[in-house]
Amino acid sequence: MKKVINVANRLPVTLGSPIRKSSGGLVAALEGITNEEFTLQSVGWPGTVVEDRDKAAVSKQLRDDFNCIPVYLNNDEIDGYYHGLSNSSLWPLLHYNRVYMHYSESDWQAYVAVNQKFADTVLDNVQDDDIVWIHDYHLMLLPQILRAARPALKVGFFLHTPFPSSEIIRCHPRRTELICGILGADLIGFHTSSYLRHFRSSALQLLGIESEMTTIAYRNHVASLGVFPIGINSGSFKRELAQKDYLQTLTEYRVNWKDKRIVLSVERLDYSKGLLRRLEAIETFLASSEHAGDVVFIFIGVPTRGEVKEYQELREKIEREIGRLNGLYASVQHSPIHFIHQSIPFTALCALYSIADVALVTPLVDGMNLVAKEYIACQNHDPDDYNPGVLILSEFAGAAQELVNAIIVNPYDKLEVANAIDQALIMPLEERQQRMNYMTSRVMQYDANHWASNFVGQLLEHHEQLPQPKSMDDNENRIIDALCKADRPALFLDYDGTLREFEDKPEQATPSENLKQLLKKLADLPIDTYIISGRPASFLEKWLGEYPFSLIGEHGNCYRLPHSSQWQSINQNTDHSWKKPVLEIFKLYEGSTPGSAIEEKQSSIVWHYRQSEPVYAQWKANQLLHEMYDMLGNSPVEIHHGKRIIEVSSIHINKGRAMEFFINKNTYDCILCAGDDQTDEAMFRVEQPALMSIKVGDGDSQAQHRVADVPHFLSLLERITQSYTTDNKQLLPPHSVTTNRVANAMQKAES
Ligand code: UDP
Ligand code: G6P
Repeated sequence: MKKVINVANRLPVTLGSPIRKSSGGLVAALEGITNEEFTLQSVGWPGTVVEDRDKAAVSKQLRDDFNCIPVYLNNDEIDGYYHGLSNSSLWPLLHYNRVYMHYSESDWQAYVAVNQKFADTVLDNVQDDDIVWIHDYHLMLLPQILRAARPALKVGFFLHTPFPSSEIIRCHPRRTELICGILGADLIGFHTSSYLRHFRSSALQLLGIESEMTTIAYRNHVASLGVFPIGINSGSFKRELAQKDYLQTLTEYRVNWKDKRIVLSVERLDYSKGLLRRLEAIETFLASSEHAGDVVFIFIGVPTRGEVKEYQELREKIEREIGRLNGLYASVQHSPIHFIHQSIPFTALCALYSIADVALVTPLVDGMNLVAKEYIACQNHDPDDYNPGVLILSEFAGAAQELVNAIIVNPYDKLEVANAIDQALIMPLEERQQRMNYMTSRVMQYDANHWASNFVGQLLEHHEQLPQPKSMDDNENRIIDALCKADRPALFLDYDGTLREFEDKPEQATPSENLKQLLKKLADLPIDTYIISGRPASFLEKWLGEYPFSLIGEHGNCYRLPHSSQWQSINQNTDHSWKKPVLEIFKLYEGSTPGSAIEEKQSSIVWHYRQSEPVYAQWKANQLLHEMYDMLGNSPVEIHHGKRIIEVSSIHINKGRAMEFFINKNTYDCILCAGDDQTDEAMFRVEQPALMSIKVGDGDSQAQHRVADVPHFLSLLERITQSYTTDNKQLLPPHSVTTNRVANAMQKAES
């Protein structure tokens, strides 16, 4: 049985004596996946500060009785991470509200620290085979923290809110960190395809990361993207509708409101739910409709986030407005609006859903809105008395994409909403039945269970599709041993993504202090070291020229031997006649795409569009690509669409051919090559019995072995240098035989 660890801000329990399981959509949805295949564990904040002296006992009870693992937060953490960064800066922006966004550095520090705290708790409890499923905007950094700590972990992230347009999310001072944080997940889920599209376009606009429709590659990791509209635990509603308590409550309500038509609204008292706009529409209705006197509007406004100023102000405004409307439109016997500012028991909620003639669900923006689905699940389906109500639903709720048979309204248009209430109240029975039938089958079939199993299933599929790294655990020692024992060992090492992590600007990816120390140690070993890169000679010379290594530039086009300043071509007879016409076309694109630039190398031409407006440049890049395919069909070139570049290069030049060129001139008995991207595959394909190959990072590869990322590869190199020392191998004096050996062998081969 697999274990799914659900990590959410709140644990699905409420502390108190006794501790109780919480109600609510997410709790129910996640329970949906507890079946024969999965067990469920929850990691989260217990919702309140727990005194140190009580923590051990609370933790034990949570683990034993609820399979929950608490992340305890102190008052400062709750203020900064929860009320602050999560609810005062992220929530408003995710709900298109720039005015309510308040950001502070100290909130951010708390958010980072609490995400790390969650990560520590997960890492203490997770086994290799477990699935970690992270929920919502409170924990956007967590996927990346877990990925860095345990690269092979299966990590999913689901956003329960909308993901807004890039124009909105870009207002967040930490937008880059937040998006990168999410990208650490293997599968990223959204309620609707629009949220997914906004996420992709934000990654492109703000970080320059291009993506496919359902995948997005960043650094060494590929995340899948998917649309998973959450459902409700329809079974629990169905069961409740058959309970005695429920039937009794229903009868009481019927008696209580026997002469009234009921229009129901249920929500947390959140500004995203559009209550003030709704009250405007209700006023329009009360002022103009002939049904006004027959209707009672019931508002269930569940208290929420009372520590945040905007929520306090909202509550005051709503209470004032309801008071005003009741004062204006009440009669001696009747008040039009019945406002309950409390959470109500599940039985009462179901009974209210059931007797309501109309559910008025008009958020200004809402990730999904479960209330709309719950209302549908509570419509009585007794064939002898099938008298369903009508759902009025905002077009800005995620649910509107599924519940298309509701009366869909624009919540900002008070006249349209008021008319919709009228329309709902007079809708003929047959039409109500038809609309409700379709929506009922959807809500009952695509329930919470379906949502959760679908997400977890796709997460597992994502992992199966990735070629699994061949474990280095056993092979690492063998590789080191083979190199140490060899008489003539050689290393062919790619630079970017192998020795050095990527930076947003390639010119910033210069050797770090750590790398410099490591290269110095490598230089002292009796190994011939080649740095083989796509970079031009000038970069390699400047940053790596001081080491006694052979440098191979431009994907194998040119080389420079240790300590020589002379760069030479590997294949002097290469046909470069294609370059001139290609350059002319590239110049046209450079001219028409502001911010783009051409780089001309000996055997290739590159068009860079990293600095250009991403969407426009992407469109131009696709145009250029087509033009190149048309023009160069029979030319000896490769056309490569890379990370914000288009490169046309000679097919006679690649890293594999360059490596063979040196192998043929020397008699190596042990060769290790390593690289991270497509261009390194040419090395991995070389057939040579003495060759060992390592792919750095994720992605398909023909290499024999794989390490997770640059730090892992550098630690392997570090171990190689240490093994030479501890084996007491006779170290060669720096820059002596090794450095000259390649040059000698080359000269010999040439003569
Ligand atoms: N709800 C509740 N207590 C109440 C009224 C409602 O727990 O007194 C639940 C309701 O059943 C629904 C959830 O609160 O499952 C609200 O979810 P929704 O997706 O509509 O909005 P959110 O609060 O997540 O923004
Ligand atoms: C929304 C969020 C959830 C959150 C819930 C209640 O549904 O997406 O993550 O748990 O509101 O908010 P609260 O701040 O009380 O947890």
